[in-house]
Amino acid sequence: MRAYEIIRKKRDGHKLEEAEIRFLIEAFVQGGLPDYQMAAWLMAAFLKGLDEQETFWLTDAMRLSGDQVELKGIEGFTVDKHSTGGVGDKTSLVLGPVLAALGLRVAKLSGRGLGHTGGTIDKLESIKGFSCDLSPEAFVKAVNTIGLAIIGQTPTLVPADKKIYALRDVTATIDSIPLIAASIMSKKLAVQNKAIVLDVKVGSGAFMKTLGDARELARLMVRIGKQAGRQVAAVLSNMDEPLGRMIGNALEVREAIDTLRGKGPADLVALVKALAQEALLAENRRLTQAEAAARVDQALAGGQAWSSFVAMVRSQGGDPALVEHPERLPTARSVVPLKVDRAGWVERIECEEVGLAAMMLGAGRETKESVIDPAVGFHLNRKVGDRVEAGDVLADVHVDPARDNTRGIQRLRDAYHLSDRPVQAQPLILDIVS
Ligand code: URA
Repeated sequence: MRAYEIIRKKRDGHKLEEAEIRFLIEAFVQGGLPDYQMAAWLMAAFLKGLDEQETFWLTDAMRLSGDQVELKGIEGFTVDKHSTGGVGDKTSLVLGPVLAALGLRVAKLSGRGLGHTGGTIDKLESIKGFSCDLSPEAFVKAVNTIGLAIIGQTPTLVPADKKIYALRDVTATIDSIPLIAASIMSKKLAVQNKAIVLDVKVGSGAFMKTLGDARELARLMVRIGKQAGRQVAAVLSNMDEPLGRMIGNALEVREAIDTLRGKGPADLVALVKALAQEALLAENRRLTQAEAAARVDQALAGGQAWSSFVAMVRSQGGDPALVEHPERLPTARSVVPLKVDRAGWVERIECEEVGLAAMMLGAGRETKESVIDPAVGFHLNRKVGDRVEAGDVLADVHVDPARDNTRGIQRLRDAYHLSDRPVQAQPLILDIVS
């Protein structure tokens, strides 16, 4: 088999054989296929597409490129959750403990921030001592004892995705529905959970900008998961403005803590409920939506979800006193109010711009080598639909005064668009695919 012929076949728009796709991935991971050939194939796949079967073969070949995390030692119904990436998205920090409190076993594989989007591991690492670097044995033990553990991608878990993602990132081949589906599902399927709930984000802060594209991605991922024998459901949620009010690593942990203590923002609570319901329904098909919703409310209001979160922090090396007293989490040395100079209604907040602005303050990585500042970020006082008067504070900007923050603050200002007429906020949950 020759890579040249496989590239040409895809370039000319033909369907590939399973063996051809497996050959490409194996050769690439083993170092027998140079980056330029893989990049050429990725561009051909980006332009000509991959059908569902080809995407499944690609996903499976990528999954098999490294270790499989067996969860046989875990008693109970195991579930993972994945978000396609957004701004202010701290959902996993709340959802995991909610599901664990409801008796599910959450064996979660999480990532770091990508581009303008934040990552669960970066957020959790703002709790001093917290580590997602668990051995497979420690991972299984933690899930068995407290119902919840979060690990990061290791070099031996789906190495094909790590290598391919690095190429896609520099060859303008990220935003391809089959390539995204294969990237996400190869990682999710390598951890052998029974169910997977996907949060597919739609809008200006998401990889999928339109509902049509998001539906296509969601359906494809759900079908790939089912073909692999897993139960999969996808919630399509609005990412046209940031989720919740906090953006930045420690700030998002604080908002997650507020939510687990029953004082969370309505949009975050609604999303956690929608995803938790899908996980509960995967475990027990006889449950009604109303019963599932009531169980989630109870886990949040009764404090069980909060206890699960504290237990997870302790079990993964974090200091529980830091989350019991969130004012002890990393705190910015200076908070700058971003004031509005005229009255109106918030019409739009360009979400990707907010993510990039936060990155410029130090909340995300501009380059692979950048070191994150866990304390910096935004607290948005005004969101879409809110009335503002001249002089109101749109957002509090948490900064390190030793850095030059002017461009980041200006970028946040530019992301806000005001209207002279009242504006209706958009619904958060746009669809469910299961
Ligand atoms: N997240 C991933 O893990 N992979 C992609 O390709 C896009 C988002």
